[in-house]
Amino acid sequence: MSVTLFPTATYPATTPRRQPVRSGASSSSADFLSLVRSDLEAVEARMASDLGSEGRIVYTLTQHVMNAGGKRLRPAMVALSARAINPEISPERLATVGAAVEFVHMATLMHDDVVDNTATRRGKPTANAIFGNGVAVLSGDYILARAMRLLSMDGDLRIIRTVSEITIDMSEGEVIEISATGDANLLEETYLEILRKKTAVFVEGCCRCGAILAGATESQEAALADYGYRLGMAFQLADDLLDYTGDPAITGKPRGSDLKDGRATLPFMLALGEATEEERNTLLTSFGNADLEDAGVVRVCAILERYGAFTRTREVASTYVEQSTKALALLPDSPARDSFLQLTDYVIQRDR
Ligand code: IPE
Ligand code: IPE
Ligand code: MG
Ligand code: MG
Repeated sequence: MSVTLFPTATYPATTPRRQPVRSGASSSSADFLSLVRSDLEAVEARMASDLGSEGRIVYTLTQHVMNAGGKRLRPAMVALSARAINPEISPERLATVGAAVEFVHMATLMHDDVVDNTATRRGKPTANAIFGNGVAVLSGDYILARAMRLLSMDGDLRIIRTVSEITIDMSEGEVIEISATGDANLLEETYLEILRKKTAVFVEGCCRCGAILAGATESQEAALADYGYRLGMAFQLADDLLDYTGDPAITGKPRGSDLKDGRATLPFMLALGEATEEERNTLLTSFGNADLEDAGVVRVCAILERYGAFTRTREVASTYVEQSTKALALLPDSPARDSFLQLTDYVIQRDR
């Protein structure tokens, strides 16, 4: 199967130079986040102070989710985008909006773990595993409402609208994905649409929020949004790759869950299109088999590897990343823009 569906865009011929990732740093988010380290600390403090609840179960659950950590990529995107436009921006609003987008992300993951029936995330038991689906769904709603409340306190209607639209698209993306469950012959077009709605629009929206906070011009905001969208597509492609190739001790998530859940992702689709009859049988009997043992996942991975499906998926992700860096050419040179360039390498090479 060929992968050709990249939305094209026209940019200036000059592309900012990508900084090589320092050795040993390929899996670490530390380098490109150092510029916004204090912003992220403020986000963390804002989240902690805003997640109190008088309800004991809700309180226990939200503390559990908070303490499980996470890369905090989305608030980092807000902060970097804002600092790419205005390096002196006040940290106060960044903390509020950063906390809100991370709350939306947390809520989404809680809902996602219910629909994916996942027991482990960020190396810890999921909310649904501990408290059951009902409590997890409603507590997800609680955190989502906390996000919207924070945004209303900031008061910027364009940011409220952007985050609302992120949530609309993400919900639609998740529903399309659920309705495609069990379809081993998912169209490439539908697959990319799921990625766009459930993940890329979120990263795009975070960049847009940062641009709005910093008072970016229309073209700067469009460039940042475009960067975020393409980075987000690469990010989800890498997530789909890690679902097969990642080490659960590092990703904090189970391996082979897309396969066992019957979710066709690019590595699977690429191999299925070219496999022999016998290999196709193995792929199709494993697909959607919730009881598949680790050995079965390993067998499927060997077939995917035989067709270069992992390398080819990484190449597709790289193409999105290449395009994302072109969007950065429209921004002034700044330490934040350099961080974005490092981030593109990280997204492809990440192991968690
Ligand atoms: C997980 O997002 C869901 C995807 C969109 C792939 P992250 O990989 O950003 O999760 P955390 O926040 O670091 O756990
Ligand atoms: C990404 O989907 C989660 C959302 C954008 C809602 P996945 O189901 O692939 O994410 P993980 O692998 O569980 O983190
Ligand atoms: Mg999931
Ligand atoms: Mg999912």
